[in-house]
Amino acid sequence: RLTPQVRIVEVGPRDGLQSIKDAISTETKVQLIQRLHGAGLRAIELTSVVSPRRVPQLADCQQVLADPVIRELLAADREDLRLPVLVPNTRGLDVAISHGVKEVAVFISATEGFSKANINGTVQQGIERARRVARKAIDSGIAVRGYVSCIFVDPYNGPTEPSSVLRCAKELLDMGCYEVSLGDTTGAGTPAKVTSLIRYLEKGGILLDRLAGHFHDTHGQGTVNVLQAYLCGIRVFDASAGGLGGCPFAPGAKGNVSTEDLVFMFHNAGIDTGINLAELVETGKWIADRLRQPGSRSSQSMRNI
Ligand code: HMG
Ligand code: MG
Repeated sequence: RLTPQVRIVEVGPRDGLQSIKDAISTETKVQLIQRLHGAGLRAIELTSVVSPRRVPQLADCQQVLADPVIRELLAADREDLRLPVLVPNTRGLDVAISHGVKEVAVFISATEGFSKANINGTVQQGIERARRVARKAIDSGIAVRGYVSCIFVDPYNGPTEPSSVLRCAKELLDMGCYEVSLGDTTGAGTPAKVTSLIRYLEKGGILLDRLAGHFHDTHGQGTVNVLQAYLCGIRVFDASAGGLGGCPFAPGAKGNVSTEDLVFMFHNAGIDTGINLAELVETGKWIADRLRQPGSRSSQSMRNI
């Protein structure tokens, strides 16, 4: 089959679940990953290995990674399957490696307020921590993906300087991240802001094929932001089945743009994602119903697809 024209990175099992208050069973998390894989997702962020006190929902990350279904996925030596785990430090990296993880994601913020709230450190400390993780990961043959958060607005400090985003993206690429995902953590982005930032980063020397878009859907701008970034030349997008998501340290922010709405949009424009939309919609509906969340537009209007 042809290589998909757009790569979707499913962040539902991590970003989608991390701020949901009610405990979700490990079994449900594993089933979610299994269903997403079954629907054709070939990049799925499995979980995060962070402080269980800060993110209690993902305290069972090791049980998820040790589950036989996930172990089998991790053991599959396939170039086309990426299963990153988000880690804040080398301690998280070591845990991930001990479970056979072959890719991790590091995360920094372009702004001080969110950095303090999220990782209890400054932007510079975040960069240094991420660099230590990247160095050790790369030495161990582990691929590293990078996130830069608050690309447009910081929930505590207000608007973000594009120069901070450029600096953070450069730092992540320099430390060896194969790709930098641009995190609109608060969902403040609009198509005009997307174009302006991407052009700025391009002028600053960042290659578009090293960038991904990670849009939260607070103001209903998620899919239009993705489309705009696509028109600017970006081909990798993070999304969450059922439109779940949000960061516990970004008050007011809503879920990630929903995977099924993105796939619906791309397929109707003749742009392949390699994903089975009907199966994905079923999965988005299944997880949203199970967690008593509203779900995505596509999963609410399933019969009309
Ligand atoms: P710290 O507060 O500086 O203190 O942690 P610490 O290093 O002394 O650790 C605090 C506690 O965490 C200690 O346990 C450590 O043992 C434990 P306690 O004494 O409280 O019992 N700990 C760990 N436990 C498990 N795994 C580890 C680990 N490291 C320390 N790897 C730290 C700094 C970053 C660890 C902490 O602040 C933390 O875990 N923060 C959570 C950050 C997080 O998960 N945020 C959400 C994900 S990022 C996001 O959503 C944005 C993104 O989606 C993009 C976007 O939308 O913009 C990626
Ligand atoms: Mg996020």
